[in-house]
Amino acid sequence: MEKSVSEAINYRRSVRKFDPSKEINADIVKKCIENGVLAPNSSNLQLWEFYHITNQELLRKISKTCFNQSAASTAKQIVITVVRKDLWKLRANKNIDFIHLKKKNLSTKQYDLTQKYYKRVIPFVYKDFLGILGFFKYIISYIFGFFRVMYRQLRTTDTRIIAHKSAALASQNFMISMAGFGYDTCPMEGFDSLKLKDLLNLNKKSEINMIIGCGIRLKEGVYGDRFRIPFDEVYFQK
Ligand SMILES: Cc1cc2nc3c(=O)[nH]c(=O)nc-3n(C[C@H](O)[C@H](O)[C@H](O)COP(=O)(O)O)c2cc1C
Repeated sequence: MEKSVSEAINYRRSVRKFDPSKEINADIVKKCIENGVLAPNSSNLQLWEFYHITNQELLRKISKTCFNQSAASTAKQIVITVVRKDLWKLRANKNIDFIHLKKKNLSTKQYDLTQKYYKRVIPFVYKDFLGILGFFKYIISYIFGFFRVMYRQLRTTDTRIIAHKSAALASQNFMISMAGFGYDTCPMEGFDSLKLKDLLNLNKKSEINMIIGCGIRLKEGVYGDRFRIPFDEVYFQK
């Protein structure tokens, strides 16, 4: 039986050594990736892709690009979350098409607003040329910001952060879902992104958000008790 959300959150630990004798079901991993894509994401642009690696030879090569850290070298399967900021126009158009399909369920005002959002606001935020246009938009928003409330996340780095935030939320959905099924994971950012992109033959503009080793934990695969900064040091109610 699947765990409750709180049980799954508590069960999840970063597992650095997976049990070599225990296999995991690729269909369940795929189901957890499907849960991943249900994550909230900026403007519903879904600027992500997921690579589910089950091939033994490829797993070995990927582990090498992760410096053979044990979370990768002992993983039974690997899931890689990739950011595709370059697809913003395509994904905005998919939203436009979807909203058009659902037109009859929306008021004219709602329909016009959402169309305007994807046809004008999104291009304003995402359109860039070598970072110059983004910086120019940022300066304009900074000046207007003296007089009114302004949206300021307009530089290339800002939109990259936006896309990575959403991809990380999908990764977290995935890892919690895996925990729900009693499967273990370890997110990794210790890897050679260039070599990995080459290995997976990824689009040049894609960026790797996270590599997630998957398997079933060995007891010694969890490195010690969970440590968290005392909650009252990070929680502020105002
Ligand atoms: C973005 C990100 C990158 C991480 N990279 C690595 C990594 O390369 N290798 C590793 O062993 N653990 C990695 N971790 C796992 C963290 O060290 C771990 O989440 C943290 O110590 C808290 O432990 P817990 O996940 O068991 O609660 C990463 C975690 C995140 C969120």
